[in-house]
Amino acid sequence: MTNPLIVDGTHAMFGQAKADAASVASRIDAALDNLRTAGSSPRPGFLDLPEDSAGLGSAVALAGELAGKGPMLLLGIGGSALGVRAIDEALGASVDPRLVVSDNVDPVGLQDRLATLDPAQTLVNVVSKSGGTVETAAQWLVVHRWLAQALGDGWRQQVVVTTDPVQGDLRAWADGEGLPTLPVPSNVGGRFSVLTPVGLFPLAYAGHDVEGLLRGAAAARDACLAADDGGEAGQIAAFHLRHLPDRRMTVFSAYSDRLRQMGAWFQQLWSESLGKGGHGWSTSLAPGTTDQHSQVQLFMEGPDQHLFLFCSVERPSVRFDIPTTEQGAPPLAEYLGGHSLAELLEVERSATAGALARMGRPSLSLSMRELNAEAIGAFVMTFEIATAITGEALGINPYNQPGVELGKKLAFHALGKPGFEQAP
Ligand code: PA5
Repeated sequence: MTNPLIVDGTHAMFGQAKADAASVASRIDAALDNLRTAGSSPRPGFLDLPEDSAGLGSAVALAGELAGKGPMLLLGIGGSALGVRAIDEALGASVDPRLVVSDNVDPVGLQDRLATLDPAQTLVNVVSKSGGTVETAAQWLVVHRWLAQALGDGWRQQVVVTTDPVQGDLRAWADGEGLPTLPVPSNVGGRFSVLTPVGLFPLAYAGHDVEGLLRGAAAARDACLAADDGGEAGQIAAFHLRHLPDRRMTVFSAYSDRLRQMGAWFQQLWSESLGKGGHGWSTSLAPGTTDQHSQVQLFMEGPDQHLFLFCSVERPSVRFDIPTTEQGAPPLAEYLGGHSLAELLEVERSATAGALARMGRPSLSLSMRELNAEAIGAFVMTFEIATAITGEALGINPYNQPGVELGKKLAFHALGKPGFEQAP
């Protein structure tokens, strides 16, 4: 049982780690035990998604039935959008754009997205676990008009709704209209839901290998839960916990263009799950090599408060050899001739990690042999387990997000939503 996500901790303990190793290890151990046996609380649903054949089956079957409807416009936000976009990009969206993810109510942004689409040739997937998220509802009302104005009653043929199996306004409305729907299991929270029909349906529709995603997730879960220290997930958790209380900023540095959006998915998972009760890490994205010419100066010589996650692909699917002068290249940067772009990318990643280590700035390197569905499924599951055990080790609930409620209530009050007449 091997995890397709490889974690290398060579530079993890550079810089002084304040938290005691034995105490961190024992907290992780207790958290893992709880996850394995479910402890006093129910086992988190995300762990069992690789075996949810009903969720997979319904998503794949519907994607197959609707194939040929044209590009998909996905309306969602947070956990109902970020993972899909990240995996679509990781597995090659730029080559065959079949999926447009719309996760904002900026009118200009929405118009830009609609301008590329034809209502008669667009499948709209409205995704909201709660069915009450204001941004998704607003986008859908506007997009519904866009469809209905062009197609009349035919708008019904262009829509699939993904939401809670029984609860919520969206569920009630979609059932009332007789629209095709897909369920989000009630025991899986939004940011842990990309391996449910939330992600499986659009990704299958876009032609990605969703079975491979689940295979990779299962391999990662089995490897992490079987290892005494939590394997790769345990390493990620321990890395963060050992550097408390001084280093509270995690920098996700993808040395692969296709992994950049996985950083945005990680950012939500880590921040929304662990940023509570005074705990947590703020996160930032620093794509390599681009960012070496942007934030790395700060990371090297600015405040010593960062932890770095480098993420790379060992064998990129494309090879570009850099030509030598003998092969007709201009006499410029001749030392590069004969190397490949992949080699340069890896040399720069490792040089940056090494330079940071020499400054006492710790990092963890994550890699996958090849960028494929198994590796991405493993990435998702490993980080979800790491988040769950880190939350438990900190004594916080990683599955809720009480801190976003006040802002929502203030917005509802401003918009005149019934029940919110009093300013909170
Ligand atoms: O992780 C979460 O629960 C949130 O980020 C949600 O995914 C986000 O708020 C969207 O919620 P919903 O899917 O209910 O529209």
